[in-house]
Amino acid sequence: MNLTNRPRRLRRTEAIRRMNRETRLSPEALIYPIFVDETLSGMRPIDSLPGQNHYGLDSVCAAVEECLAHGVRHCILFGLPTHKDECGSSAWAGDGVIQRAVRAIKARFPDFTVITDVCMCEYTSHGHCGILHGCEVDNDSTLAHLAKIAASHAAAGADIVAPSDMMDGHVAALREELDRNGFQQTAIMAYSAKYASAFYGPFRDAAGSAPSFGDRKGYQMDPHNRKEAHRECALDAQEGADILMVKPALSYLDVVRECADAFDLPLCAYSVSGEYAMIKAAAAAGLVDEERIMCETALSIFRAGANMLISYYAKEIADAIRRGDIG
Ligand code: PBG
Repeated sequence: MNLTNRPRRLRRTEAIRRMNRETRLSPEALIYPIFVDETLSGMRPIDSLPGQNHYGLDSVCAAVEECLAHGVRHCILFGLPTHKDECGSSAWAGDGVIQRAVRAIKARFPDFTVITDVCMCEYTSHGHCGILHGCEVDNDSTLAHLAKIAASHAAAGADIVAPSDMMDGHVAALREELDRNGFQQTAIMAYSAKYASAFYGPFRDAAGSAPSFGDRKGYQMDPHNRKEAHRECALDAQEGADILMVKPALSYLDVVRECADAFDLPLCAYSVSGEYAMIKAAAAAGLVDEERIMCETALSIFRAGANMLISYYAKEIADAIRRGDIG
């Protein structure tokens, strides 16, 4: 037959298929989450996230060394403090768990990018992401606390602060406080479109940050909404965000595409704990090929338009890229 169009011509050999890839991945675009537990020495496996560990302050540099061994050059830090109270005061303590972890990493690996999650839920006794007035998280009084937390992370040497609280006006509040303290060069990666998602379940077990009552629907976004994500990104961009984020990733690839097209800022996607845990569980049950599912999901997020990816699989994805399995 004389078919003019035969797309299969470009699928004929492995070399041609690789040449023809529309999506290119790089280990440089991968960010690995590290959980630092102030009460721990050494490291301890996280039950809800098979293959992941809690690190004590004495072993956080070992976590970084492992990243570097796989070619991953960026991390995002989450802290588990010894002490929690109503207003999450250990979140901005100069010698808090994250502040100490950042200093330890930066002293040994000054070129390794350290991003810090700026939120209060791991530090408050009630597990909500801000200051409570009655049963509600009060937006405006929370802002000042978030700003203090971000400035304390910057003072410790964080390269990028990432507010994940979903308070209105948070980026402006952080930018102002950072600048006022001389941290003009500290970038803000805003969790802009962060949905109230069931996919955070394993993280909340790992970080001890589940709310003690209610849920986060009063501040995180409703999963039904797409236009609202656009609005959240626009607000964060106006307020001075350097990087926007969509979170979770897999159930929100439409939002990733939309925000990648609509804004000229770099876009990060966060493939969250539930996405990772589901693949792990399905693989452990012998139902899927873990490696291939990991690759396919990661590349789908980049294909949707993400410029960078936070993933618990960051090290394994970097290996797969190097092998040529993706990217
Ligand atoms: C803190 C925060 C959460 C995650 C990142 N930062 C939990 C939440 O919002 O409840 C979730 C990350 C994951 O599930 O991997 N607010």
